[in-house]
Amino acid sequence: MKHFLDIHLTDPADLRVMIDAARAMKTARNNRPRGARDDDQPLAGRMVALIFEKPSTRTRVSFDVGVRQMGGETMVLSGKEMQLGHGETIADTARVLSRYVDLIMIRTFEEATLLEMAEHATVPVINGLTNRTHPCQIMADVMTYEEHRGPIAGKKVVWSGDGNNVFASFAHAAGQFGFDLTFTGPETLDPERVWLEWAAAKGYPVTIDRNPERAVMGADLVVTDTWVSMHDPESARERRHNQLRAYQVNEALMARAKPDALFMHCLPAHRNDEATSGVMDGPHSVIFDEAENRLHAQKAVMRWCLGV
Ligand code: CP
Repeated sequence: MKHFLDIHLTDPADLRVMIDAARAMKTARNNRPRGARDDDQPLAGRMVALIFEKPSTRTRVSFDVGVRQMGGETMVLSGKEMQLGHGETIADTARVLSRYVDLIMIRTFEEATLLEMAEHATVPVINGLTNRTHPCQIMADVMTYEEHRGPIAGKKVVWSGDGNNVFASFAHAAGQFGFDLTFTGPETLDPERVWLEWAAAKGYPVTIDRNPERAVMGADLVVTDTWVSMHDPESARERRHNQLRAYQVNEALMARAKPDALFMHCLPAHRNDEATSGVMDGPHSVIFDEAENRLHAQKAVMRWCLGV
């Protein structure tokens, strides 16, 4: 069973196969006559369940469109509307869904929900984000970096802000794709120690530098994310803003990175909080390529899971 649960749980050679396949599919699609169906329909006759226990724009639309482009069909389910939200166990839900569909993508709060789904499903399960990680996003980010600048291996990536679930998947990617990762942010919002230890054990220790101006020097890629994640309590908003204000990615900060550095944000963004509109819409920014590449990267992930 080939689940796609996290980047650090997936063989690096398989990750490379997926990135290269995603780029090839993007090229093929962009070269076809507009409106024409893709020649390749590897998901024809297959049904994919897309379960959302949290809001989503990019993940929901890109998975749905990706399945359809590959000839399959989708069923978008909200956790609240399912019996899952009314006491049915995750294990029973996984067993039942496996009798109907060929693949399950789930966006949920607790990592334990994802892992229990994968343990009991008899079809592949894909992690569409948990409170701890967001692997599909970082597959798209690696693809985006490489299509603009070539191999990410050996490059300097700097994350400025909250050490959240998206950062965690960057730490996994550093170890698997072989790039140098720096975290700059307040100590109170440091990444989970277990992820830092994992990257260090892979030979790519994450550098922690509390000074954002110093941290971004020589960066090939600067990344940030929202200061208040979906699972953070609303009551923490003001405190987080105060803690993170010094880590805003603005024009002055980007000017300290390499002249050809890229800027990424997985979106949705709160403009002029974690990043200024000047940076988001500026010459370094590839945020909308990043969003588009969710589609292509996830198509490759689904094909890998299904072996088609
Ligand atoms: N980046 C991302 O996962 O976006 P959505 O929350 O809109 O899916």
